[in-house]
Amino acid sequence: MLKFQNFIEELPKAELHLHIEGSLEPELMFKLAERNKIKLRFNSVEEIREAYNFDNLQSFLDIYYEGAGVLVHEQDFYDLTWEYLEKCARENVKHTEIFFDPQTHTDRGIKFDTVINGIDKALNDGKEKLGVSSNLIMCFLRHLDEKAAFETLNSALNHKDKIIGVGLDSSEVGHPPSKFKNVFEKSIEEGFFTVAHAGEEGPPEYIWEALDLLKVKRVDHGVRSIEDSKLVQRLVDENISLTVCPFSNIKLRVFDKLEDHNLKKLLDLGLNVCINSDDPAYFGGYMNQNYFETAEALKLTIDEVAKVARNSFEASFISETEKQNFYDQITSVVDKYRV
Ligand code: ADE
Ligand code: ZN
Repeated sequence: MLKFQNFIEELPKAELHLHIEGSLEPELMFKLAERNKIKLRFNSVEEIREAYNFDNLQSFLDIYYEGAGVLVHEQDFYDLTWEYLEKCARENVKHTEIFFDPQTHTDRGIKFDTVINGIDKALNDGKEKLGVSSNLIMCFLRHLDEKAAFETLNSALNHKDKIIGVGLDSSEVGHPPSKFKNVFEKSIEEGFFTVAHAGEEGPPEYIWEALDLLKVKRVDHGVRSIEDSKLVQRLVDENISLTVCPFSNIKLRVFDKLEDHNLKKLLDLGLNVCINSDDPAYFGGYMNQNYFETAEALKLTIDEVAKVARNSFEASFISETEKQNFYDQITSVVDKYRV
């Protein structure tokens, strides 16, 4: 078992589904609250952790948006991002494509530039000092209207060099992708790739809409695609990846326990699935723990785990040359552990 754990630790991995606000650890939340003279309703780190019991996506989002309230200055966004990148470096996450939710901050009076400049500076330092490469994806909050998403897109146009794509997150049910058709169309015209959360709690129809109307290159979560065999075939045919988040799905009660997770079934159907941590500070683990516990619960083989890691690079927005380099590194690690 130790050997399997070492294998996962050594395996180069890409993370494609990570909300930077969801990497805010209670310790940093406390530190920033103090620095910014913000009163939290919790008295200790332990009290915060105890509050992290969720019934569904919405019960998580309520506390997640509350926690993000301690992020005020550019330095706060830098510190948050830097802490996450240090974890990537420790866990052999070589490349990460992170989401940020500008509206969570601009709605509190924080400037868009403050948010993006802090994150971007840390990402540049992460590449230079830690060797972790990255891309940034801006998410629109789907519980807000399309007009607000357009305003956010306009703010982003001054920062096109820092953002590779746009995504869609927050409360899924009742807010289908069709609500954002026009702003995604405009985003594509402006040169952004598109992704969207779909089929986490919402039905397969939302995944169809994400494909047909938002023209997504990846589906975030997408675990409910399994309910629709025509949809599965479409995802396989077009090699659309699902960025699956096992710990998140357990914490938000999409599945009762890891043993019930459908990741292996999705893999067996020929889908490109990868493993990601989503909001690791809230869901109890970063990448290696997600990989390890999922592999154990679903009895994945070394080759299956390596396939998941390979999928993560294949589905990323890096160049073909960079992808090949990571595939070769994965092969070396597999060869080392198979003997
Ligand atoms: N925002 C942060 N995490 C999310 C998730 N798992 N689903 C939707 N929106 C989110
Ligand atoms: Zn997510």
